[in-house]
Amino acid sequence: MKFDTPSAENPTDRLRVVGQPVDRIDGPLKTTGRAPYAYEHHDGFTGGFADGLARPAYGHVLGAGIARGRIRSFDAEAARRAPGVLAVISADNAGPLGQGPRNTAKLLGGPRIEHYHQAIALVVAESFEQARAAARLIRVEYAREAGEFDLAKVRDSGRAPQDEPDRRLGDFAAAFAASAVRIDAVYRTPDQSHAMMEPHASMAAWDGDRLTLWTSNQMIAWGRADLAKTLGIRPEQIRLLSPYIGGGFGGKLFVRADAVLAALGARAIGRPVKVMLARPLVFNNTTHRPATIQRIRIGATADGHIHAIAHESWCGNLPGGSAETATQQTQLLYAGAHRLSALRLATLDLPEGNAMRAPGEAPGLMALEIAIDELAEKLGLDPVELRIRNDTPVDPHEPQRRFSQRQLVECLRTGAARFGWAQRNPVPGRTRDGRWLLGHGVAAAFRNNLVMKSGARVRLGRDARVTVETDMTDIGTGSYTVIAQTAAEMLGVPLAQVDVRLGDSDFPVSAGSGGQWGGNCSTAGVYAACMRLREQIAQRLGFRDAAAVRFADGEVQAGGRVAPLADAVRDGELLAEDSIEFAGLDRKYQQSTFGAHFVEVGVDAATGETRVRRMLAVCAAGRILNPKTARSQVIGAMTMGVGAALSEALHVDPRLGCFVNHDLAGYEVPVHADIPHQEVIFLDGADPVSSPMKAKGVGELGLCGVAAAIANAVYNATGVRVRDYPLTLDKLLGQMPAPG
Ligand code: MOS
Repeated sequence: MKFDTPSAENPTDRLRVVGQPVDRIDGPLKTTGRAPYAYEHHDGFTGGFADGLARPAYGHVLGAGIARGRIRSFDAEAARRAPGVLAVISADNAGPLGQGPRNTAKLLGGPRIEHYHQAIALVVAESFEQARAAARLIRVEYAREAGEFDLAKVRDSGRAPQDEPDRRLGDFAAAFAASAVRIDAVYRTPDQSHAMMEPHASMAAWDGDRLTLWTSNQMIAWGRADLAKTLGIRPEQIRLLSPYIGGGFGGKLFVRADAVLAALGARAIGRPVKVMLARPLVFNNTTHRPATIQRIRIGATADGHIHAIAHESWCGNLPGGSAETATQQTQLLYAGAHRLSALRLATLDLPEGNAMRAPGEAPGLMALEIAIDELAEKLGLDPVELRIRNDTPVDPHEPQRRFSQRQLVECLRTGAARFGWAQRNPVPGRTRDGRWLLGHGVAAAFRNNLVMKSGARVRLGRDARVTVETDMTDIGTGSYTVIAQTAAEMLGVPLAQVDVRLGDSDFPVSAGSGGQWGGNCSTAGVYAACMRLREQIAQRLGFRDAAAVRFADGEVQAGGRVAPLADAVRDGELLAEDSIEFAGLDRKYQQSTFGAHFVEVGVDAATGETRVRRMLAVCAAGRILNPKTARSQVIGAMTMGVGAALSEALHVDPRLGCFVNHDLAGYEVPVHADIPHQEVIFLDGADPVSSPMKAKGVGELGLCGVAAAIANAVYNATGVRVRDYPLTLDKLLGQMPAPG
């Protein structure tokens, strides 16, 4: 199904099942431990193989001990002789390996080493403990080479990425110089780790030249293609399965070393092999969100209209790696006739940087939304009002492109009223609750709505059960549930009559889980397949005009005639497959999602300890397919924003070129005790331009702006403006208001 005109009224508009806050259908499986994750295919699990999977062997990954250089000698003799060891795989004996286009560094390094903890060997043994113990016996000598690990040092060597040229409108320099009120400040965001709960894990089994890989991956088709390229086989020889995923956040968009090495290990020993990355390897072996240095200049009229706005951002990556596009929202969020945005990408020899939840906007708004707060203060204008005053109904660079929907102002107004913003004292450091200095902060949220082709097939079985199959993944987001809701609505059956099967490369290729496009696009693909199935059902039941047929309550009706749905499959099941193909509406209209975050913090007047006391998000993201799963996404994202604001940073060891805090003791993510009451409001608003589902992404929107709202609240509490994330107490101490 081509989607090239805004959607008219369609069966999902009934909102009998779609749009309802139903529980996750996979919840009972997960809470009782019966949803098998990639590493959990234990004894007795056959995976469709006649035998063999009953006794998987275990692989342990050895990571490089240098950041850049060569392996001079690699001695695995002692490891090979160690108890239980079945094989040691390294670049010496793995045979030629290719590289998937979505991987920046090789997933098996050697002799060349491109980053610290790049995988250099897999030890395969009968037990996990034997594999781990033997890996410690491998002797590696390196020829270490100097590398660049400090963004501040290399930033001036950065170049504009080829696909992200500078964007200019008007004459920024002149307009800025002529502006009545100006701010010019530099902000820093650190390297961050996805730190998902389930580490990267895979289990591989070969049957002749065909590979089955159970893995934890967000994008089945990308993973299969990249794995095939790496192994030098055809994609059709690989079956990739990823039905349950313990979090991804972008860290599992691409196959990683666990997948490749499990495949190589299993091929070497002729037996299934399981590989899970040990927690420390997740931080340095896999991808991370790259650090940025951002300079923002804004010039405004005395009455608070932005006249000139410039956002420049510097970042680094391995050669061939992509840039963190932190300037992206600044091109679209606020009005202003004179504009400049520029990215600079330098070479760093740190582990590979790549997408992490809301890549671009998440770190971009961490800077921009503090800058707006600073401008508001300089203007003596309320920060909510300043944002409202600079709303733009069109893409400022291409005014003929309107936003399909834009509810930023409504988000801000609704949030301000609900939060009690009017009671905030705009003068910093004046509000106290005992030893706590209280502060209130706001930030806008913005994230583009991306669309990707997505396919599905739908079967109506002889028992009138509906089965949906698509390679879409559920990374904890609720994909199973919103897909079941879509099929139930489209075919007029109860939710319990729908089975959803996901995360298998044998199923039609979906949009996958990334960039907050998964919910909208994958359900739109299911919608397309269901439209096909409805035609078949109508035909079987003798209804001439398929478009006029209504599906409801297990019945099919048109022209005064009613037939039970089950009658359509009396003579055999029906199967339909289709995909949604987005054809141009995303170019004609700017499609974005909007929100506003409001935060109350308390900062301990003596210690500088910051506690978040209240959080409110107002989100406008098209139709909300399931308010319960959407709320879970948003409160999870808000929690991630608390980490970004207050604790999360990968700290670089400039001698070794690695992230030193490579576990969850040193890389601190928020825990329950850190998180207060969170409230989420979704504004109504189906967006017929986004898809037949009229939904948009929301899972990343919930993160965008949160950290800045917290930083602004900390400023309001203390009068200390921190522009360098995270806002740890050392950055506040010494500048706090005198007790009094
Ligand atoms: Mo998202 S960073 O595309 O999983």
